[in-house]
Amino acid sequence: MLNIGVLVSGGGTNLQALIDAQNSGILKSGKIVTVVSNKEGVYALERAEKAGIDHKVITKKSCSGDSLAFNKAICDYMQEKQVDIIVLAGFLAILEGELLENYKDKIINIHPSLIPSFCGDGFYGLKVHQAALDYGVKVTGATVHFVNEITDGGRIILQKAVAIQDGDTAEILQKRVMEEAEWKILPQAVELVCSGQIK
Ligand code: GAR
Repeated sequence: MLNIGVLVSGGGTNLQALIDAQNSGILKSGKIVTVVSNKEGVYALERAEKAGIDHKVITKKSCSGDSLAFNKAICDYMQEKQVDIIVLAGFLAILEGELLENYKDKIINIHPSLIPSFCGDGFYGLKVHQAALDYGVKVTGATVHFVNEITDGGRIILQKAVAIQDGDTAEILQKRVMEEAEWKILPQAVELVCSGQIK
């Protein structure tokens, strides 16, 4: 059984999907041991609290605004909690330095598009869906991938396509992509990695 650390920045619906998958047995080869947020007061922290999972806030500001020190603080905390695998579930800060080095091939991210479309620096949250609508694509989706030094550039683990419908707004599309793709493939991908089926 591997120890999972989840990084969040917002509402935490993907964290909830992981908690639910753990409770239903879909996620059985790993256990969420801690949730770390880079923002105070986000609902994801409440979800962790309700599920009885250790949670902590580490902000860049608390690290004197220094990105490397911020990454080191997260890395130190993950090691203190004996975390084996880190899952970015709507985590909107850039990972670098010690964290990336110490957890090479052990960090997983969910991105709300079919990579390599609508990804990379500046593409996060609703901006991703707005970009898909602006381009006029008929199909979008979600991707779970390993994290490396290139934003959204690591090896792909799972993808799922979602149709765009007439009248979609970024908000409507975000909800459909979450329901039809993200909340399904994130737990599946985490189980694949924790069980050693994907290395
Ligand atoms: C999700 O749609 C996730 O894919 C996206 O942020 C949202 C977080 O929602 N992540 C990115 O855009 C990363 N580039 P949540 O807090 O409800 O899970």
